[in-house]
Amino acid sequence: MALWSGRFEESANAFTQRFGASLPVDKRLYRQDIQGSKAHAAMLADAGIITPEDAAAIEEGLDGIQADIERGVFAFDINNEDIHMSIESELTARIGDAGARLHTGRSRNDQVATDTRLYMKERAAQLMDANVRLRKALIAQAEANMDVIMPGCTHLQHAQPVLFAHHLLAYTWMLARDHGRLAQARVAADANPLGAAALAGTTYPLDRFATTEALGFARPIPNSLDAVSDRDFLLDLIYACSVSCLHLSRLCEELILWSSAEFGFITLSDAYSTGSSIMPQKKNPDFAELIRGKTGRVVGNLMALMMTLKALPLAYNKDMQEDKEGALDAADTLEDCLICAAGMLETMTVHPDAMMAQAKKGHLAATDVADYLAKKGMPFRAAHEVVGRLVLTCEKRGCNLADLALEDFQAESPLFEEDIVSALDLRAIVDARTTYGGTATSAVQQQLQEAKSLLPT
Ligand code: ARG
Repeated sequence: MALWSGRFEESANAFTQRFGASLPVDKRLYRQDIQGSKAHAAMLADAGIITPEDAAAIEEGLDGIQADIERGVFAFDINNEDIHMSIESELTARIGDAGARLHTGRSRNDQVATDTRLYMKERAAQLMDANVRLRKALIAQAEANMDVIMPGCTHLQHAQPVLFAHHLLAYTWMLARDHGRLAQARVAADANPLGAAALAGTTYPLDRFATTEALGFARPIPNSLDAVSDRDFLLDLIYACSVSCLHLSRLCEELILWSSAEFGFITLSDAYSTGSSIMPQKKNPDFAELIRGKTGRVVGNLMALMMTLKALPLAYNKDMQEDKEGALDAADTLEDCLICAAGMLETMTVHPDAMMAQAKKGHLAATDVADYLAKKGMPFRAAHEVVGRLVLTCEKRGCNLADLALEDFQAESPLFEEDIVSALDLRAIVDARTTYGGTATSAVQQQLQEAKSLLPT
């Protein structure tokens, strides 16, 4: 029988029961639901609204239910729309009137908002942990490959040589910002709606500050209508998950390219690769591709909830029941993707020679040759032109800048001298970029220390 059976002459049919239920999704919130109910019952007793004996019976009954859920012996019944009704009706079945007093001064509207906020605070912290694991993996690979040079690209065309470590560390900064966004989403969730009741507050002398403290929330939400209607905290979380997934999809795209025959920069471990059912030679970067692919779904979850909330009048509307599926999925997916990417990074093999071989192609020294002339007094634009002509010569001869003879250089400008050879050395080119945040070994060492110092100890 539904908790509102008093006003109804007919119960929902099997279809509407199933269609209206959120239990399959929100049963994951059982712990938070019980935690919230215990805090509410203790506060009701302290305020003299229920007896201490009833509060004790409620607490004990809820503990028994939690134990049964965790042992897998709790009989969930879809006739109870959601986790809140499942637990409350079972509690009343077990302890009678005391259980039926639990919902005094409370509505499922403030209850569901409370549970979801408690749950998401926890999830955000777990996502932050997974984020740190991936940053550690990136930092470890950077540290282990400090001397490896690769072609840096713009437009996916060879541009200038960079340290492979520098390239990997770029992702740690994206992830550090993702960590910050998750922390902000956690702060947004960290406010207590309990005591808002259905929408208007309640006539019972509830102490909202007491439940705020008992549940570990930073503050009570100051407006009862807002308390039951606000789902911004979920948007914030899904947004944080979406941006982080976007970053992972960029990283994975590079891992996919780097592990192709054309690049050959890395080999992913067997544990993070799959074979083909028909082509015996294949080793595919499925997991990197999956992360890239799952990003679409996570961003979709953000759009979905935004559209669900659009134009909803205050206060609670059943539309809002649609909030949890996408939010939980976004958090689950990001967590899996972070763990998967960390494992992939931790176990991949790096091929420095292949990176160096590619770095020698595509005239990566061109900017530095132009700088060489500019430092000898030629205006940079003129130097750019001279080097452009040298590159054209190389292209026609099918060689690289480093293959040209001193006479070839001097034919374009008398400013070229013997020391042009060192201007063509890739390591010297890399190590000359000593500006803060640059790719010189010294600058990358400093960056590495900064990236490490942001990690929690
Ligand atoms: N299952 C509902 C949800 O997840 C709980 C709140 C229901 N409130 C109501 N007035 N129907 O949104």
